[in-house]
Amino acid sequence: MAKTQSNRASLDKQPREVAAMFDGVARRYDVTNTVISAGQDRYWRWATRKALALRPGERLLDLAAGTGVSTLELRKSGAWCLAADFSKGMLAAGRFRDVPMVAADAMALPFADNSFDAVTISFGLRNVADTDLALREMLRVAKPGGRLVVCEFSTPVIPVFRTLYLEYLMKALPKVARVVSSNPDAYVYLAESIPDWPNQRRLAMRIAANGWASVKWRNLTGGVVALHRAYKLG
Ligand SMILES: C[S@@+](CC[C@H](N)C(=O)[O-])C[C@H]1O[C@@H](n2cnc3c(N)ncnc32)[C@H](O)[C@@H]1O
Repeated sequence: MAKTQSNRASLDKQPREVAAMFDGVARRYDVTNTVISAGQDRYWRWATRKALALRPGERLLDLAAGTGVSTLELRKSGAWCLAADFSKGMLAAGRFRDVPMVAADAMALPFADNSFDAVTISFGLRNVADTDLALREMLRVAKPGGRLVVCEFSTPVIPVFRTLYLEYLMKALPKVARVVSSNPDAYVYLAESIPDWPNQRRLAMRIAANGWASVKWRNLTGGVVALHRAYKLG
């Protein structure tokens, strides 16, 4: 029990606990994701790149980028893509990747106002201690007219599928993580934090309440994941 408490963050998400948990996950993070999502992670990353519609020469901030696996996909667009995360363990595990990386806290970004054409965060916003502050920081560093794409676990829309998915999250996922992950306890946190997270409509309202305009979303894999898109008014 003591081990469990020390290796995963609690649902009130103390930043230091979250960073330590991801430091522990880092070594086998990429492979664990692909296994527990049955390969869907690649589709979700591809869909995020399409939603951002980046052009060569644009500047993108990939926030909570972890090992840079999300950034690598985005770089295929030809845009300049910067990976930022506050877990030094995650950044170190991805340092073999040819993407620029910076240690940064989503709640106090070390960038000037109006710096990026687009800002994105994949499977990260749910983990940030203060969601609203992170959304406002992303708005601050985006250029006028700049776009936001949030890729995050969400609520499956078909009730029967939702029930089966919750069973998978609570029962099977921790067992699978025990086989593949370098910190299986973190996946208990993952399983618990997903049902706790706002559904598609509520997250859209939250994004809009923090100053982003024209918020829309699209479900992926029946709503297991949702892509929220928005703009900074010019
Ligand atoms: C599930 S990983 C996502 C990594 C990557 N974006 C991906 O798609 O695989 C979540 C990341 O959020 C980062 N994170 C959580 N809170 C953060 C914060 N306040 N500032 C920066 N990064 C944060 C963690 O360190 C972790 O690397």
